[in-house]
Order: sequence, then C-alpha cells, then structure tokens
Amino acid sequence: MSARRSLIAGNWKMYKTSAEAADFARRFVPLVSGLADRDIMIAPPFTALETVAGILKGTNVALGAQNLFWEAEGAFTAEISPKMLAAAGCRYVIIGHSERRQFFGETNDTVNRRVRAALPVGLIPVMCVGETEQEREAGQTFSVLDKQVRKGLKNLVANELGTLVIAYEPVWAIGTGKTATKEQAQTAHQFIRSLVANLFPAGVAAAMRILYGGSVKPENISELMAMDDIDGALVGGASLNPESFAKIVCY
Ligand code: 13P
Repeated sequence: MSARRSLIAGNWKMYKTSAEAADFARRFVPLVSGLADRDIMIAPPFTALETVAGILKGTNVALGAQNLFWEAEGAFTAEISPKMLAAAGCRYVIIGHSERRQFFGETNDTVNRRVRAALPVGLIPVMCVGETEQEREAGQTFSVLDKQVRKGLKNLVANELGTLVIAYEPVWAIGTGKTATKEQAQTAHQFIRSLVANLFPAGVAAAMRILYGGSVKPENISELMAMDDIDGALVGGASLNPESFAKIVCY
C-alpha cells in the first residue's frame, strides 16, 4: 500500500456503443459513489464520450479517452485533438497502449508527442509501457521499460509531470488471464520509479502514480494493491461489467 492516492481506471478498448456505455455508467456510479479516498476513471470509445460525460458529471467517476492526436486542429482526417477531448469532458487520456504500439504503428516518439500535447490542456496522460513475452524471456524487460519511459518522457520538465500517470502493462498479461505475480509487478514498478527518480528532480518519482494492467480481476486486485509501488490498476476486460469493475474499485 502506498501513500499516493490510488487510481483505478477502466480501458474499454473497442467495446460498447454509446447506449451501452450510458447503461454501464448509470449502473456503475451508484456502486462506487461513497468512495472519496481514491480516483476512479472509465475510458469509453470516442463515440460514447459526450454521452457518458453527461452521466458522470458531478460524480466521483472521471472520464478518460483512449488516445489523442498531438496537433491542435487541422486537416488530419479521423484524428481527435486534446482540446476536443477536454471539451467533451475528459480528465484523462490513455497514451501508448500496447495495442496501439502493436497494431497501429505507435512508437516511443509518437507516445512522447501525444504526452506533450495532452498536458497543456489539462488532460492527465496515462502513459502505457510494458514488455512482450519474448522480451521478458530474453531478459530484456528492464531495458525495454527504460527505453519506453525515457523516450516517452523526453523533453518534459518536472513541473509538467505533476499529474502524469504511468501504467505498467506487460503485454503477455493483457487479455490472457495470466496476471503478473505481485512480485513481478512490484519489481517492474520499482524499476520505473527509480528510473523516473534518476531523470527528474526529487519528489517527482515519489509522487508519481504507477498503475498495473494485465488481467486485473476482483480476485487479484487486493494483493496487487498491497505492494509498495503499485498505485492502482488499468483494467480491460473486467471493467466492462459494472458489478465486476465496482468490485475492483472497492478493493
Ligand atoms: P485486460 O484487463 O483485459 O487484461 O486488459 C488490460 C489492458 O490492456 C488495460 O489497458
């Protein structure tokens, strides 16, 4: 258990129409409304953001988006700007998810551009990092994380990093039911925090929230949250059902 305020976030990926998302939000909000000691976020698809924003307004559940483009506006067909997300009611934005890296050409450089674009409009970036199974087996976990964190946070200064969240999501644990052990997750989180401590002035690393993602479920959230450097979770599949996500949030 850390002294940092925890954040439990749901990444819905490409699931739920606007009507389905609204139904979730209406059922979920009352299940978690009493919790004042932690932050809660759900990230629906773009098409559901405004509808869900209306339902979450004035509640303790914040809205997040799953990506953004770094330009403010322009001829960039199908892209969504930071300002559009903020205006739609988003407080958070997930950046650099491994599915973006794997299927949509996201690189550490584009992750960095997106992070730098999110901060000035007041969006809290949830920057995702994590090694593949092959990289872990080759003993490259730390070098992959080092590169992803270092490049993702390039050209940022300490006072911009106040809100930034890092999500450690080992690719082999995403959607596989194969959760990292609490020790594996803690080791990676500790590594990321000490790296941030080396890159930025004192205080930044100690205050930064690092979430774990990868097959988080009601059954394993408590043991993960008990670890010193695990400050929350980024939940995929188990965040799609209001009751199961509420159980995770109420760990
Ligand atoms: P699962 O919880 O479905 O493994 O997904 C994790 C994830 O990718 C969250 O961003």
